[in-house]
Amino acid sequence: MSHSKDSTSKLRSQAWFGGVNRDAFIHRSWVKNMGLPDDAFDGRPIIGICNTFSELTPCNAHFRGLVEHIKRGVLDAGGTPLEFPVFSCGETLLRPSAMLFRNLAAMDTEEAIRGNPIDGVVLMCGCDKTTPSLLMGAASCDLPTIVVSGGPMLNGRFQGHALGSGTDVWRFSEDVRAGKMDVDEFLAAEAGMSRSAGHCNTMGTASTMASMVESLGIALPGNAAYPAVDANRNRLGRFSGRRIVDLVYEQVPVSKLLTRQAFENAIRVNGAIGGSTNAVIHLLAIAGRVGIEVSLDDWDTLGHDVPCLVDLMPSGRYLMEEFCYAGGLPAVMKQVEDLLHTDALTVNGETVGANLAGVESFDTDVIRTRDNPLSQTGGVAVLRGNLAPDGAVIKPSAASPELMQHRGRAVVFEHIEDFKRRVDDPDLDIYADDIMVLKGAGPKGYPGMAEVGNLPLPAKILEQGVRDMVRISDARMSGTAYGTVVLHVSPESTAGGPLALVKTGDIINVDTAGRGLTLEVDDTELARRRERLEISEPPMTGGYQKLYFDHVEQADRGADLDFLRGCRGAAVPRENH
Ligand code: FES
Repeated sequence: MSHSKDSTSKLRSQAWFGGVNRDAFIHRSWVKNMGLPDDAFDGRPIIGICNTFSELTPCNAHFRGLVEHIKRGVLDAGGTPLEFPVFSCGETLLRPSAMLFRNLAAMDTEEAIRGNPIDGVVLMCGCDKTTPSLLMGAASCDLPTIVVSGGPMLNGRFQGHALGSGTDVWRFSEDVRAGKMDVDEFLAAEAGMSRSAGHCNTMGTASTMASMVESLGIALPGNAAYPAVDANRNRLGRFSGRRIVDLVYEQVPVSKLLTRQAFENAIRVNGAIGGSTNAVIHLLAIAGRVGIEVSLDDWDTLGHDVPCLVDLMPSGRYLMEEFCYAGGLPAVMKQVEDLLHTDALTVNGETVGANLAGVESFDTDVIRTRDNPLSQTGGVAVLRGNLAPDGAVIKPSAASPELMQHRGRAVVFEHIEDFKRRVDDPDLDIYADDIMVLKGAGPKGYPGMAEVGNLPLPAKILEQGVRDMVRISDARMSGTAYGTVVLHVSPESTAGGPLALVKTGDIINVDTAGRGLTLEVDDTELARRRERLEISEPPMTGGYQKLYFDHVEQADRGADLDFLRGCRGAAVPRENH
């Protein structure tokens, strides 16, 4: 059965709004209190607009304005827009970690879509977790879906220099601790860093995920780059509003776009943009919702050798504003077109190849050409060994080349509070060529796999002028961060992974070229330690955290809740009256 603008066939929403009976009266009458005319329910698509506006998510705080443009687009195309909120996971304020709540927000999104009279949905995403959470939830429903990202902030400016969200916080705070920057200057940089509405202006996780949805073909071309305050962002919202109505008429469910080919394209594009390591976990989780087999190893085999072409912080120099002016993501995709599945369908009804026809790059400093990459390896390398049987990741473009192959003595911190207590102790027994190891920061351990993997260096090391050391943990790190940081060690220490067995003084070998991560302790000794191992669980009083702890999967599977994997469709639930 095909819907068309002339068709009398029923849309999903007609199960609520169609007919002449008591229930339809209830459904129509109550929404008419918003001033909707009778023809809003005459069989035209009802478009749910899932809005993650929240003043507790500053990156999405401009969504009240953006949503009006999306609604106008829906109305332009003959649909009826109905906006609804879901839990908004803001990265900067939410404790103990926004990641803990990604799956909760995904569950919220899924149930809100399925339980309501919605024929198609627009997902308003911005701050890091709001993109994967909404797309995971929508993917489990499989209605026509389009993503509209909120767009990055304008460039930060301070004392005549550009400031990058996050990246310069890490740099400044280390300068303060090393005595190279005074605290008043540090504080003065705050307002300069965040100068407009929008999400982080670096190629951090938010910009990476906005690029991922564009490269997956689930957002319109241009989605990743337009600044939040650029009129083109509002125009993109309007076009998306129009397009979702057509997607309903054309009956294009999200699973028609989120194919294996689309995920392969996204993994390759992540390499070309030098994207965040968080994209690994989020795309694994999204793929799990549509039943597409994507493994951690796919990230290495498909993405690792893609050259990083985008000279943006944290891997490079520029920010998202320059990225936009240079042509944005289409200009990057054009450079790696030969590596992409150009016949993959995208949300505007065209293939990737058709969308890239005629695309140009306008600044080859910012978006490099293939013969002049920022680095030869833009993606992530997946390391395995007796320290990470199920894998760990490292981002070579953000690491120090001389530390990629490194054998050193472990200095172990049992949890983040242990680290914070001892890191600046002048008596801490640590040297620049040691390896800092953090436990208890994985999905279960934190809980919620916090972004603490880029451990600040000890003050005594910073004072020596050293700015990077090898760090290993079961944590994540911010997409704005940098350093030789081995992340997502699986299984995590709290799940009994070998990371739990590491002791200060052990030798660890990081062999990025050989993809190895080895704890050089013999098996007999490790077995002995395991017998005595006592794993401490994070303090929990029940509620969602307990549900999460009991059901969260490990990072190599996307850290979704085990019972949320897969697509449950959007069959109309039974009547409630
Ligand atoms: Fe929201 Fe970076 S903190 S995007």
